[in-house]
Amino acid sequence: MIPRVCCASRIKPQKTIDQVVFYLTNCVRGRMIVDIFAYSCKNSPKSHRLLGVRLVLADTNPEVDTIAKKWGYWHLGIPGDVRSRDYARDVIETAVGYNFNERVDILVNSAGIVALDNAETLSEEDWDRTIDINLKGSFLMAQAFANHLIKTKRPGCIVNIASQAGVIALDRHAAYCASKGGIIAMTKVLALEWAKYGIRVNCISPTVVLTELGHKAWDGPVGEAFKKEIPAERFAEPDEIASIIAFLCSNAASMITGHNLVVDGGYTIK
Ligand SMILES: NC(=O)c1ccc[n+]([C@@H]2O[C@H](COP(=O)([O-])OP(=O)(O)OC[C@H]3O[C@@H](n4cnc5c(N)ncnc54)[C@H](O)[C@@H]3O)[C@@H](O)[C@H]2O)c1
Repeated sequence: MIPRVCCASRIKPQKTIDQVVFYLTNCVRGRMIVDIFAYSCKNSPKSHRLLGVRLVLADTNPEVDTIAKKWGYWHLGIPGDVRSRDYARDVIETAVGYNFNERVDILVNSAGIVALDNAETLSEEDWDRTIDINLKGSFLMAQAFANHLIKTKRPGCIVNIASQAGVIALDRHAAYCASKGGIIAMTKVLALEWAKYGIRVNCISPTVVLTELGHKAWDGPVGEAFKKEIPAERFAEPDEIASIIAFLCSNAASMITGHNLVVDGGYTIK
């Protein structure tokens, strides 16, 4: 079933909102976000085209439009850097103009990097870059998206991708943990401030997900040892994250905002 944006707030959900779902998201190399799209489509009795679902990918990858169009010519990729406020505004404006209904309903903030180093040697450049892309980038995209919704008096839904690293400490992850902890805190504030506009804001905190980034950080003996620490004794598959994001964007989650949903096979319960 296509996830529907819904709000139990002062702005009522639109009757037709499930007809045009716009995924505005980052992440191309990794499969995580594309899998959200696939997840919503394969559970739909009709094709995503008939339902009017359009995907907008925002990513530094210059091939992002080609990648988006692999899912259908009506999808769009806009290359650029989420650290730029102008780019964030441009993505929203282009997405709105591109959609026949001038509507954009869902933002999934997924752009992220990891710089692994011991805290005592981590460079200032790696620290700044990690905080800027992971935390500031998520904020700028959310701000541009929310301003559009507020101006047009439409409800919407944001899912920020944090990490278990925002909840617990991970060796050699100082900047990454700080950026993801920041996303969890920011999510609560945005949810608090924007609930009155019918905008729900949640985040998820996955354990290792078997994407390119996940392989880069956890392939090898360290990863194998880490896996044994997870009660489920395995890492997550991208579609196990996709299904959670789809849930948070659906009517089933209409009363959930400001939440951090940990998807970690039990790792952080210890
Ligand atoms: N894979 C994991 O194990 C894991 C676990 C927990 C959380 N996460 C988080 O999930 C999100 C997606 O991770 P992934 O595993 O798919 O990673 P990935 O490296 O496969 O994909 C990240 C994407 O972000 C894009 N990107 C990087 N910098 C950018 C910028 N400045 N502007 C725009 N786009 C930019 C990259 O081009 C890439 O397509 C990240 O925020 C990551 O921190 C991943």
